[in-house]
This record gives sequence, structure tokens and C-alpha cells, in this order.
Amino acid sequence: MPETLDLLALGGDGIGPEVTGCALKVVEKACDSDTRVDITEDLLHGACYDEAGTFLKETTLDHARRADAVLVGATGGPRWDHIRPAGEAAMSDGLMQLRMELDTFAGLRPARAIACLEPLTPYRPGLTDGADVLVLREMTGGNFFSAERGVDRSPQAPRRGYDLGVYDEHQVARFAHVGFRLAERRRRHLVSADKSNVMEMHVLWREVVSEVALDYPGVTLEHLYADNASYQLARDPGRFDVIMADNLFGDMLSDQAGVIVAGLGMLPSACLTGFPDDATRVRGIFEPVHGSAPDIAGEGIANPVGAILSVAMMFDYAFGRADIARAVEGAVTTALEAGARTRDLGGRLSSAAMTDAIIAELEA
Ligand code: NAI
Ligand code: MG
Repeated sequence: MPETLDLLALGGDGIGPEVTGCALKVVEKACDSDTRVDITEDLLHGACYDEAGTFLKETTLDHARRADAVLVGATGGPRWDHIRPAGEAAMSDGLMQLRMELDTFAGLRPARAIACLEPLTPYRPGLTDGADVLVLREMTGGNFFSAERGVDRSPQAPRRGYDLGVYDEHQVARFAHVGFRLAERRRRHLVSADKSNVMEMHVLWREVVSEVALDYPGVTLEHLYADNASYQLARDPGRFDVIMADNLFGDMLSDQAGVIVAGLGMLPSACLTGFPDDATRVRGIFEPVHGSAPDIAGEGIANPVGAILSVAMMFDYAFGRADIARAVEGAVTTALEAGARTRDLGGRLSSAAMTDAIIAELEA
């Protein structure tokens, strides 16, 4: 009897539903006699607002809580930017709300150089050879999720804007454990990026990360100030394995790491509720790093690779099928090596044709 897994797919806005459709085709092809996936599609953020007057429906959230995995396309667009529902900051974004409600605090953003795409990167030849960086970004704390935020507008005083950054020791510790466990499964090198030289929040951050390190003698921990981490990453991406950082620095460093792969449309991510031990699985939200790209939405030309590689991460972490994950990644690389390119990569393939090229490799 095959096991049937429950996948909730939320395409979102702009190119989100387009790339999600491509990714779901790959899910269907990648399944085998041991694993079946039961797919339910639903709305998120702007598309949801237009139909239901809310960025995230209660019924969708309920399903997300019990699903084995949630696949998201992308959310947002100028049509909905001005809508600010009452409540916490996350309420004005369906995806942030989903991350907060599911407590998916660990954002994995891998960037692995693909040799045949090197000419499309700004790096000089050879510099990204073998570069394989995983940026681990804290996703539900820090400045972006601050309870103390606002713009004070008093006629008596200059206007004042603030987002108070706070982490408690439990938030940092659970996150650091994910960083060390990821590093254990990779090349055993972990960089923690902070600004403990100037920020108290990061004094605690460094202290707690160093305490957690005692549990992982097999992993080399290196503390770097975040600005230096960014500089070193630009200079020599091959020197990094796992980089962990808070929500703000993780956001920046993961975009920067993405440069080694030649395009925003190529990058996958996973937001996990923890880290799976060898025998277990972990729930999470799997989504390409890119946004809704309103400039190309509706044309059928978006690069589906970020979404398809997010499916690979889903098979790996949420479904416990590392073998299928490697097969999907392999099919993407082989299709690219054979010359398959969407327009953002200088080619002419539509999203659908790119997906077909990848599926052909998967089946071969
Ligand atoms: P974006 O990632 O949507 O687009 C940036 C540029 O990259 C655009 O020129 C776009 O055409 C191109 N691009 C992005 N993905 C592509 C793909 N798969 N294939 C080919 N080209 C691609 O970022 P932008 O323009 O800053 O934001 C647009 C909207 O998306 C905003 O509303 C923003 O808030 C939202 N956004 C949502 C994210 C999410 O859902 N996780 C992440 C980032 C932005
Ligand atoms: Mg970002």
C-alpha cells in the first residue's frame, strides 16, 4: 500500500500560480508506488483577498496545520499593498501570517552553483566552482515580527519610525540547533552572522549559539560580523557551508548567496518547524525565493526551477524521500546542461516547456 501524503498548494499571486502549476506536475511525475501525494489547491494573499476579503482564510489555515506540507508560489502586488488589516504586522501579508501561525522559524535557502550557468553570473570564471552555500534564516522573530513598531506622528516632535528587534534565548537556541544539525549533514562548518559588536540582541545571540555549540563537537563554528560575512561571501562563496543569521541579516545574505546560481528564478526555500532526525520528517512551507513578478505575470515565461527545487526540498524534509529529492535536483541540472533555458536565463522556453524538459530527464 503506498503512503498518501496531504499537500496543500497555495499559488498566491502574479507568477505564483504559474510556477506552482509547473511544480505540481513534477510532484505527480516524481511519485512512485511507495508514495502518493493528495494535492489540494487553495488561495493565498491577494487572490484570496479578492475572493474572500481576507489574506488567509481560517479553513486554509486549518488545512495547513494538518497537511504534511504546504507548497507556496509567491504573494503580493501593488493592488493589495495599501491594505493593512488591524492586528499584528503579519496580518497584512497572508504568507507571513501562515509562517507565524505554523511557527516555521527555520528558513533554509540553499544556493548551489551550476557550472553551465556560470557565464550568467557576475563572477569571474572559476570563482564559484563547487560553491554550495545554505543560508539558514530565522523566520518568525527579530525586527520583522516586532510587536513594538510604528511611525509616531506628533505635531510637537519629529516623526519617528521603529521596529524593535527582540530575540529570547529559546528562539535563538532552537534555531541554532537546526543550524548545527544541518551542518552535521553537510560539510560540518557553520558560520553564525551577527552584529554583537554593536547590538545587545546579538550579544545574546552569540552567547546562546556558543552554548548550543557544545552539543555539536563535530561541527566547526565560526562567528562573523554580518557585514564581514557579506563581504567574504561576495569574495569567496566557496569558503562557506551553512550560514545562520537572524531574520534581517538572513534575508540579505540569502539573496546575496543566490547570485552564485545566476538568477532569482532558480532559488528554492523551505521554512521548517524544526529539523528532522534521521528517521523522522518535519512539516513546513516550501516556496521559491522569488516574488510574484508582476512585470511578467500572465505571460507563461516565468522560470519554474525555484518552485521545482522547492518540491525537491519538500520530498527531502517533509516526506522523508531524499531519493526522490536527489532525482528531481538531478533532472533540473541535466535539463540545464542540455541547454534548457527560460528567458531570464537567456533562452526561449516557456514555463511549461522548461517543466517538460525537466520531467523528460526525470523519466529518463
Ligand atoms: P520579484 O522576485 O517578484 O521580481 C524581481 C525581478 O525578478 C523581476 O524583474 C521579475 O520579473 C524577476 N523574476 C522573479 N521571479 C522570476 C522567475 N521565476 N522567472 C523569471 N523572472 C523572475 O520581486 P519584486 O519585484 O521586488 O516584488 C514583486 C512582488 O512580489 C511584491 O509585491 C513583493 O512584495 C512580492 N514578493 C513576494 C515574495 C514571496 O512571496 N515570498 C518574495 C519577494 C517579493
Ligand atoms: Mg528577501
